[in-house]
Amino acid sequence: MTAPASGLVLGLETSCDETAAAVVAGGRDVLSSVVSSQVDLHVRYGGVVPEIAGRAHLEQIVPVVSEALAAAGLDRSGAPVSPSGLESIGAVAATVGPGLIGALLVGVSFAKSLALAWGVPFVGVNHLEGHLYASLLEDPDLELPVVVLIVSGGHTLLVALEKPGHYAVLGETLDDAAGEAFDKVARFLGLGYPGGPGVERAAREGDPAAVALPRPMLGDGLDFSFSGLKTAVVQHVTRHPEVSTPDVAASFQAAAVDVLVDKTLVAADSIGARGICLAGGVAANTSLRERIVGAGAEAGLRVFLPSRAMCTDNAAMIAAAGHFRLAMDGASPMSTGADASLRFPGHEPRR
Ligand code: KG4
Ligand code: ZN
Repeated sequence: MTAPASGLVLGLETSCDETAAAVVAGGRDVLSSVVSSQVDLHVRYGGVVPEIAGRAHLEQIVPVVSEALAAAGLDRSGAPVSPSGLESIGAVAATVGPGLIGALLVGVSFAKSLALAWGVPFVGVNHLEGHLYASLLEDPDLELPVVVLIVSGGHTLLVALEKPGHYAVLGETLDDAAGEAFDKVARFLGLGYPGGPGVERAAREGDPAAVALPRPMLGDGLDFSFSGLKTAVVQHVTRHPEVSTPDVAASFQAAAVDVLVDKTLVAADSIGARGICLAGGVAANTSLRERIVGAGAEAGLRVFLPSRAMCTDNAAMIAAAGHFRLAMDGASPMSTGADASLRFPGHEPRR
């Protein structure tokens, strides 16, 4: 076990379209968290353009890290600005994957350079493992084991979290991620980018029972499938062009949420979980949040919902995951590279 030289970890996140840096003490206490979103740069293309994302990370990484250090009361050498009882940064963690390779490389290279310059360990963090820690950061009293539903733009996973660092993947999507389905349906319906918030906004005005859509793989194990649901939306609108967009958005959202909530409850039951947590960008969805709280309460489970800022990409979750990884596995070698398709740790080979 290698503990960080000090309890302060600087985390960097550049896997997709947010440049983020945060300082976290003891793996739990967020001293600063800065997120610079690139949404404005990608919006006119209707999705993230990898080349533009990489360049924007390069421009933003220095100001974002500087702001995170300053907001935590630290100077550019990672040391306290004034004698305040604070320690200096003890380790630098960065997302090494999964994500866009050109985007990941910015954070990984910058983190390694800082670690070398400051003489502290570098820790490579799996982005999805970071999302898991978002719940622990905001609810340190969370009683384990819990089932975490990670629903982001690139991933849909049900994970059993037994204790920090010990996970098992219980189910995952066999095709599109939940967020990807929201983004594709939003693009098809002309609801903008990123798609989730656009679908949610439109759905508020619509009737969730207006269009009969499938609930793929409901009642059939813990894996998910969303690509058929997206296709069903496209087919319905193509056949009935007069259908109201809010009704389609509400019906799609209801179908996706039905499947996510049902499988999360089944997963919790299968491991005797004490609670349920949500993680990832889709966890910001109000309908999903309300439904999971209701279903969890009915099943006698504690439901923890991270704040919306902690659901979407941020670096506090990366610093927290880095803290625990360093304690468990020690520093990552400086030869660690970025891996665009890094798998989730604890992934058992699937049938
Ligand atoms: O975790 P995240 O910020 O980035 C990834 O790691 O992918 O998740 C982004 C995803 C996008 O697909 C976005 O459309 C979705 O989260 N999202 C939502 C909402 N807000 C963001 N999906 C549904 N409802 C929302 N309110
Ligand atoms: Zn994410």
